[in-house]
Amino acid sequence: MSQFKWVIAALSASFAAVASLDIPALSPRGAELLPQANYTELAEQLSNTASIYWPGSETFEDIVARWSNLSVPVANIVVVPGTEEDVVQIVNFANEHSAPFLATNGFHGSIATLGEMSDGIEIYLSQLNTVEISQDGKTAKIGGGIRARNLTDALWAAGKQTVTGACECVGYLGPGLGGGHGWLQGHHGLISDQYLSFNVVLANGSLVTIDETSDLFWGMKGAGHNFGIVTSVTSKIYDLEYPNYAIDTIFFSGDKVEEVYQVSNELWITNGTAPVGLNSWSYWYFDPTIDAEKEGVDIVDPIHTEPFHQLGPIKNEPKSGDYRDLATWTGISLADGPCQKTGNANPRFPIYLKSYNPQAQKQVYELFREATTGPNAHFANSLFMFEGYSQQGVKAFPDDASAFAYRSDNLLVAPLLIYSPGEELNQEAYKLGHQIRQVLFEGSGMTTMDTYVNYAYGDETPANWYGSDSWRQERLAALKEKYDPDGKFSFYAPIA
Ligand SMILES: Cc1cc2nc3c(=O)[nH]c(=O)nc-3n(C[C@H](O)[C@H](O)[C@H](O)COP(=O)(O)OP(=O)(O)OC[C@H]3O[C@@H](n4cnc5c(N)ncnc54)[C@H](O)[C@@H]3O)c2cc1C
Ligand SMILES: *[C@@H]1O[C@H](CO)[C@@H](O)[C@H](O)[C@H]1NC(C)=O
Ligand SMILES: *[C@@H]1O[C@H](CO)[C@@H](O)[C@H](O)[C@H]1NC(C)=O
Ligand SMILES: *[C@@H]1O[C@H](CO)[C@@H](O)[C@H](O)[C@H]1NC(C)=O
Ligand SMILES: *[C@@H]1O[C@H](CO)[C@@H](O)[C@H](O)[C@H]1NC(C)=O
Ligand SMILES: *[C@@H]1O[C@H](CO)[C@@H](O)[C@H](O)[C@H]1NC(C)=O
Repeated sequence: MSQFKWVIAALSASFAAVASLDIPALSPRGAELLPQANYTELAEQLSNTASIYWPGSETFEDIVARWSNLSVPVANIVVVPGTEEDVVQIVNFANEHSAPFLATNGFHGSIATLGEMSDGIEIYLSQLNTVEISQDGKTAKIGGGIRARNLTDALWAAGKQTVTGACECVGYLGPGLGGGHGWLQGHHGLISDQYLSFNVVLANGSLVTIDETSDLFWGMKGAGHNFGIVTSVTSKIYDLEYPNYAIDTIFFSGDKVEEVYQVSNELWITNGTAPVGLNSWSYWYFDPTIDAEKEGVDIVDPIHTEPFHQLGPIKNEPKSGDYRDLATWTGISLADGPCQKTGNANPRFPIYLKSYNPQAQKQVYELFREATTGPNAHFANSLFMFEGYSQQGVKAFPDDASAFAYRSDNLLVAPLLIYSPGEELNQEAYKLGHQIRQVLFEGSGMTTMDTYVNYAYGDETPANWYGSDSWRQERLAALKEKYDPDGKFSFYAPIA
């Protein structure tokens, strides 16, 4: 199922330590390299495992390259902190020089607002990747620069697990700060629902601990990119209760679109008969497919798939294994296309839905088919994603539990248009993406366009990202005014 035909570009793992600080006054990017800044001074304030990279080095190019090459942030320099305290020093240094700064980890953030950063310091958190499990085994202190697979592996080794994003190479905090969807959400809720406290460096450089006693705690869980750099987080973890999984991947031809989603609705979504731990995903690329992953079993119970088999699929591929196989089965493991950086633009146009509208599905299927097949198809390698994560754990929290606004929605739907960027195709993708999303919106009967902030294209409004209820907007605006009045954390879906 590796439908992404992408070139592998490995990330260099060897970091030069801060030894030579022979930084050219002008970077090859043409930007002034904060000419008044003395990086030797910064280096002296950092721990001895910190590193500084500047343009022209191979490592620099590797660690500023992003999954989506569309509207990307530009940095003059990258600093890799070795400790949580290093982040304080870097933020203070940036503030002293009025330099913009941006935390990076998995490089999968792709919202177009990131392109507003045209110079400054990227703070690459990769070394803050420790996992410390508490004595009682119920919580873990997790570094702000860990990625999903590394966390899963570290917990697995101790017989534990927690909710992480599904894609192995994506950061853990990037998803979590925007809510955070993952395979285990049906049991435990969103990634951010697990958080008990954050160590966070605020806009003014203070390293503080934010827990339920702070007004900011609510905002960190859903709009967290707006408020600080999380150097570590303490999260709930669980015994490895659900290690086994099975999947049934069922392939359909396009003429079955309406029936397939009609059955999906009845079986999984509107009837509410899907058990905890049943995640249903489908991808479109030439042919639509339906996936049903089910935990705790070696085959997916036919109750959940037989109605699809009856529709006459092209083929189906049942598999069994454990939790760690899910990423490979769904094409988002470290080896798959979504974990490579190719130079392609990868915009998504997401919308949350309550259920499928089979007629709207058919309509967008035709739009997508035209754009991805045939002689004039400009987006041939694109992917349309329909993510039906198990919802029980998410809905177990009250709607106002956190800044994540969309607990009442059921499906995360998004076309991902993949192409080599250029002015004309950028425009075409923008137009097509909006057209598709509009059809889904109108077919949904919903009155608000609910958009997952972590998939957003970037031209949506704060009401789309964070919920249109005025109490949400007011509460977020007040937090922003209190904690980040100068908008230093406003490159990723800014609240205002
Ligand atoms: C292939 C793919 C699969 C995905 N799978 C999932 C999924 O399963 N579940 C899900 O919920 N989302 C998923 N997403 C969306 C994901 O949540 C966002 O893309 C997220 O921004 C990625 O974070 P990152 O660390 O990889 O990216 P980065 O670009 O490095 O960071 C993204 C943003 O988060 C900020 N940030 C990162 N770390 C910190 C930190 N420690 N403190 C403060 N700010 C920080 C950065 O400053 C930046 O603004 C997926 C995206 C892609 C492209
Ligand atoms: C930069 O700072 C270092 C360490 O404080 C100092 O030795 C050096 O003279 C400074 N360089 C300039 C150009 O000011
Ligand atoms: C994180 O996981 C990747 C892929 O498995 C591995 O190469 C890397 O060494 C891991 N990092 C750490 C710190 O364990
Ligand atoms: C779902 O509910 C509808 C209406 O009550 C019913 O007709 C249908 O048979 C149900 N489907 C399943 C798979 O239970
Ligand atoms: C990113 O896209 C631009 C065009 O917008 C192109 O010039 C550049 O080479 C691309 N980057 C990579 C790494 O391919
Ligand atoms: C930084 O901001 C926080 C939150 O507004 C505040 O509590 C703290 O006192 C500030 N620290 C400094 C050093 O100004």
